[in-house]
Amino acid sequence: MSGFRLQPVQIGPLRVEWPTFLAPMAGYTDGAFRSLCLEQGCGAVVTEMVSAQGLVRDHERTGHYLDTWGDEHPLGVQIYGSEPGAMATAAAKIAALKKFDFLDVNAGCPMPKIRNRGDGAGLMRDPAKMAEIVRQVVAAVAGALPVTLKTRIGWCADTINVMETTAGVEAAGAQAIFLHGRVASVRHSGPADWDLIAEVKRARKVPVIGNGGVKAPEDVFRMVAETGVDGVMVGRAVLGDPWWFRDLRDLAAGREPRMPAVDEVRATIREHLRREMDLMARRGKRELKLGAELTACLVLRPHLVRYLRGFRGFGALARTLEERVDAATLLGRVDEVLASGRKCEAPENGQGSAS
Ligand SMILES: Cc1cc2nc3c(=O)[nH]c(=O)nc-3n(C[C@H](O)[C@H](O)[C@H](O)COP(=O)(O)O)c2cc1C
Repeated sequence: MSGFRLQPVQIGPLRVEWPTFLAPMAGYTDGAFRSLCLEQGCGAVVTEMVSAQGLVRDHERTGHYLDTWGDEHPLGVQIYGSEPGAMATAAAKIAALKKFDFLDVNAGCPMPKIRNRGDGAGLMRDPAKMAEIVRQVVAAVAGALPVTLKTRIGWCADTINVMETTAGVEAAGAQAIFLHGRVASVRHSGPADWDLIAEVKRARKVPVIGNGGVKAPEDVFRMVAETGVDGVMVGRAVLGDPWWFRDLRDLAAGREPRMPAVDEVRATIREHLRREMDLMARRGKRELKLGAELTACLVLRPHLVRYLRGFRGFGALARTLEERVDAATLLGRVDEVLASGRKCEAPENGQGSAS
């Protein structure tokens, strides 16, 4: 695998030099986590999905999904909805902000409350509407930023229609397609269909970025080699492991990937929390009933589960994660877990339980 190169991908006017994308993940990919991933070598990031209706109505809470931490680029913003006019209005508002590098339309979210309204994966059942949304969004942003679409191969195994939907959105002006190789009905389980991703890639002129089934960094090179995709998007594998992107760069350069030292994990968790607090401090009192610090600790919780899973003392911390605690208490507990050592190593300072 050593020395494997990825070619830059051109998405309309945007050139992504290292075509590895952090997948949008609601509840995880806010500015704090995205910026950490970029610093570790991720090629481009995308916000969590943002409600077009919320943007149209200027909902304060929705607006905070557009918050960024530091200078995050290349950065895409993802919107969801099923009403073409509202999607276009939301897109025009986003273009006016001049802070994003591309705008992505969500046509793949399988959560019942989203898809049952016809949003997200619901759009796959109406290819004409999916294309119409792209057409109106492209017109609304008027060339200010490229428009992309993220979708799946179909609604369920019997209704795979990705050739039709992707042809429609390409003709409507989408400048890249992010393709998750699973159907909506399985949500995130089971294998992703890389053969179909390859077929779509061969059929489309715009770049196709593959997604699904990427676990180890090596899988990026395998997906590119097996499907011909122009880039790779990765989600769950990097949660609690922003160093995954560093490993990928190391592999590409022929270097041995390095497991992060315990001190580095500690410093990253602290920095992650600091960034969450910074983001929360921008929110109004009405939105933050618990205050910035406690809310930031709550937001960090699902990440902590991922950062600390491989440590002996994690079980004890996990049992207390439901408690509302301040930053000092939470970080004190994190330090205890880190001191217990990784499950495959001797504990630091001789502490922790034997396994
Ligand atoms: C917790 C979670 C939240 C997600 N939120 C979004 C989202 O907001 N928008 C979106 O397009 N996909 C979302 N996804 C799907 C991912 O972007 C990605 O397509 C999926 O996880 C498959 O990639 P993976 O196998 O690399 O994780 C989410 C997935 C997870 C697990």
